[in-house]
Amino acid sequence: MSATMTALFGGTGPDWEAREVAVPSAGPGRLLVRAHAVALNNADAAMLAGADPTAGGTGQEYQAGFEFAGEVLAVGENVESVAVGARVMGTSPASFAQYVLVDHRHVLPVPDELGYEEACALPTGLLTEHGALMAGGFTAGQTVLITGATSSIGLIGLQIARTLGAGQIIATTRTAAKANLLKRSGADTVVATGEQDLTTAVLAATGGQGTDVVLDHVGGQTFADCLPATRVAGTIVNIGRLDTAVSTLDLDALSYRLLRLRGVSFGFSRAGELGAVIASAGQQLLPAVADGRVRPLIDSTFSFDRADEAAARLRSHQAGGKIVLSVP
Ligand SMILES: NC(=O)c1ccc[n+]([C@@H]2O[C@H](COP(=O)([O-])OP(=O)(O)OC[C@H]3O[C@@H](n4cnc5c(N)ncnc54)[C@H](OP(=O)(O)O)[C@@H]3O)[C@@H](O)[C@H]2O)c1
Repeated sequence: MSATMTALFGGTGPDWEAREVAVPSAGPGRLLVRAHAVALNNADAAMLAGADPTAGGTGQEYQAGFEFAGEVLAVGENVESVAVGARVMGTSPASFAQYVLVDHRHVLPVPDELGYEEACALPTGLLTEHGALMAGGFTAGQTVLITGATSSIGLIGLQIARTLGAGQIIATTRTAAKANLLKRSGADTVVATGEQDLTTAVLAATGGQGTDVVLDHVGGQTFADCLPATRVAGTIVNIGRLDTAVSTLDLDALSYRLLRLRGVSFGFSRAGELGAVIASAGQQLLPAVADGRVRPLIDSTFSFDRADEAAARLRSHQAGGKIVLSVP
């Protein structure tokens, strides 16, 4: 194995810069993984823009990336759950590299049925959507509303809700153009928020009751519209702010309906807590990943040296599913 590797860095300009850096070594509790494919997330675009010194960003350099799939090359002390040679998919900062250092609790085994390019596109969606459903107190038979459901993690959320036995799934997109995609991914009802009033449409689809659990990826006015669309004593979990982080809420709707509001941000969770979320998602969902009930939708795959094209595709918001980089 070479002593150096190629990794992508942000903080030098509008795009990532490939650099040769030392291969890290696996300390206690860590795995060293030879990454074969890595996937982009919305947060990658935000970090790249925030650090871009040519556009008023911080100029703070960082090794980019959040999720990957590959083969375990070395395990540190105190690791018993994962062996050298295992195929794993996981989440770790600095994963846009040929070798990724990761907490052993932050990986899941890759089922034999899955190649690395599909596997790398799953960890964030699996852990976030499953973790959010659990935070929302979801149980089989309940009605789930997923806003911003065409987002790459929203599409995984639809499949998870279906797999775990949701009674009814309502999904939102801004235009009806993506309605078929949402139906194929598990939605019973699609609400195009650019053309329909969200609250009215959800109440109509649920016999006037509203949904039990909401997974909100949009924030802003959409989050506010979810309150009167949620069943009495139901729960709204905010996951993302694709629109905006600022929302004006009708507190009458919150109180009269006895609602619970939750937020999740797994990137800010402590290592042990994130490990528990990943373990729970794996336990409940790996069989469904293996038999195809939960699979990521891949929008496009770029070679590592075309990462700038992948970033442009991410920024365009035109992707239908995950954008993947194959690692040399
Ligand atoms: N809480 C956590 O731990 C966690 C983890 C991962 C991601 N996230 C967050 O979850 C969200 C989704 O992430 P992702 O990477 O899956 O996103 P993504 O794939 O980049 O989402 C793209 C989709 O967002 C929708 N969209 C874009 N701008 C919008 C707007 N102004 N209003 C409403 N919808 C808009 C579009 O849907 P339509 O064109 O169909 O409307 C588009 O298909 C992001 O906000 C991300 O930061 C949170």
